[in-house]
Amino acid sequence: MGLIISPSILNSNFINLQQEINMLNVSEADWIHLDIMDGVFVPNITIGQPVVAAIHKISKKPLDVHLMIIDPDRYIDEFAEAGASNITVHIEACNHLHRTIQYIKQKGLKAGVAINPHTPVQYLEEIINETDLVLNMTVNPGFGGQKFIEASYSKIIRLKELILKKNSKSLIEVDGGIDLNNAKKLIDAGVDIIVAGSAIFNSSSPSDTILKFKTIE
Ligand code: DX5
Ligand code: ZN
Repeated sequence: MGLIISPSILNSNFINLQQEINMLNVSEADWIHLDIMDGVFVPNITIGQPVVAAIHKISKKPLDVHLMIIDPDRYIDEFAEAGASNITVHIEACNHLHRTIQYIKQKGLKAGVAINPHTPVQYLEEIINETDLVLNMTVNPGFGGQKFIEASYSKIIRLKELILKKNSKSLIEVDGGIDLNNAKKLIDAGVDIIVAGSAIFNSSSPSDTILKFKTIE
């Protein structure tokens, strides 16, 4: 299976969101990554279910919804109804993660668990056979355009080892500070899905940059 690229629209032009989604629709992007922030779990507030539902109406790509909100169980139904294909919750934000993951899967969606840079890979040991993907944060969540944390490479290698040891089918997604320079090393470490925001939307041609990510060798 080739690399999945999931552009984050956080750094796109929100005034022309329809144009941005249309651009992604005809690009090589596999998914569209939507960052939902509550101003509590992370120090920023972004978009909620109504905007996800509006994007869903015009998107031809699956919506990869990353919930950076406390107690996300309260909103799984609503984001499922809004059109999410994947829902990823943070391990640090869930008291009953196993139940939350089962619930997302019961809704017919892919279930993901995100871990912050400080959260050890071992914390995934008892959930990795339930998840469809693990989202390893490569910056502290909250904002686009931050600097990639170098220690992430070795963490991804340990995550891949855990997945193999447990015979898990989980894919590895990385998010934060990823560009065309560090992507190759991440893929070599075992990454299946790359989220990129500013590297795509701050480039002169976002669709060309998406194509470059897709054709990294
Ligand atoms: C950060 C978000 C990311 C962010 C990525 O909290 O989860 O998805 O938008 O943006 P870049 O690629 O600019 O770091
Ligand atoms: Zn994200």
